[in-house]
Amino acid sequence: MDNVREEVQESAVKRIGVLTSGGDAPGMNAAIRSVVRSAFRRGIECVGIRRGWAGLISGDIFPMTSGDVSRIINRGGTVLYTARSEEFRTEAGLEKAAATCKLLGLDGVVAIGGDGTFRGARALSAYGVSVVGIPGTIDNDIVCTDYTIGFDTAANTAVECIDRLRDTMQSHERCAVVEVMGRHAGYLALHVGVAVGATAVLVPEHPYDFQAHVAEKIRRARLGGKTNFIIVAAEGAVSAFTVGEQIRTELGLDPRVTILGHIQRGGAPTVKDRVMATRMGYEAVRVLAEGRTNRVICAAGESIIDRDITEGLAMRKTLNPEEFKVMTVMTGT
Ligand code: F6P
Repeated sequence: MDNVREEVQESAVKRIGVLTSGGDAPGMNAAIRSVVRSAFRRGIECVGIRRGWAGLISGDIFPMTSGDVSRIINRGGTVLYTARSEEFRTEAGLEKAAATCKLLGLDGVVAIGGDGTFRGARALSAYGVSVVGIPGTIDNDIVCTDYTIGFDTAANTAVECIDRLRDTMQSHERCAVVEVMGRHAGYLALHVGVAVGATAVLVPEHPYDFQAHVAEKIRRARLGGKTNFIIVAAEGAVSAFTVGEQIRTELGLDPRVTILGHIQRGGAPTVKDRVMATRMGYEAVRVLAEGRTNRVICAAGESIIDRDITEGLAMRKTLNPEEFKVMTVMTGT
């Protein structure tokens, strides 16, 4: 508390904005709440920016007080709405956004979203606006952070749905092909696949091979006595319908295909997402209050740190090799 008071006195930052951009993720509201309340504790005014970068371009903003963020820590989605802005990718769009910041006296902006959001933040910082990013996406695919807000909730939602599917697959001795989100990344599919005890897990990081990744695993499971099978596919690996068709024609089974889709993006955030979002929101405000810019808040093991956005975006992230190995052992190869 004393530390916070000291920083209040030192900080030249008087007003900041907060926005959510890109695909929403459970826990974004908890992050917004944390930003508003952390700012308030430092004597910094906070304004909400609606619809991501588009709202900064059009000046769609409103003051947010501590009371305005009551009872949102447990709500899915984002009270600030979210959008993807093509205009913000242009020089004219960036200039308009920077002009809004100047007009409204915004000393900084906290942008909650995925790597597209951070690329936008970096571009805006070149126009003299202080920016800090908070990673929020169910894909957990942001290279510089071990964790992104929303992943745990989405994984738990997918697991709950697949556990239900398992019941009926077991009764009918069937095969389920379940598509989970992850256009470019297999973190969610891998995590969920391990958690449900999937027969096979398909991720975009490994080129799809029906015989090796599906047929052989179903055969082995069948030889081991199993009569129901769960195949978890990330949407970016292969279409679940393609896999289902191949299982039908090549293995003679009668599979059922389920696309979990946007169900995975909704719902009340888990404890992990609420806590991570709250910690990250606090750090984002601290970084801005210290007069720093072009930073992204990252989970590094059990700690929350900040990195330079440009350096963060240049880092490489691969699927956790240990988790992938465990999955291959559990699925019989
Ligand atoms: O939030 C990330 C993500 O869930 C991807 O896995 C998915 O491909 C994409 O968003 C779909 O988002 P939208 O339907 O909003 O374009």
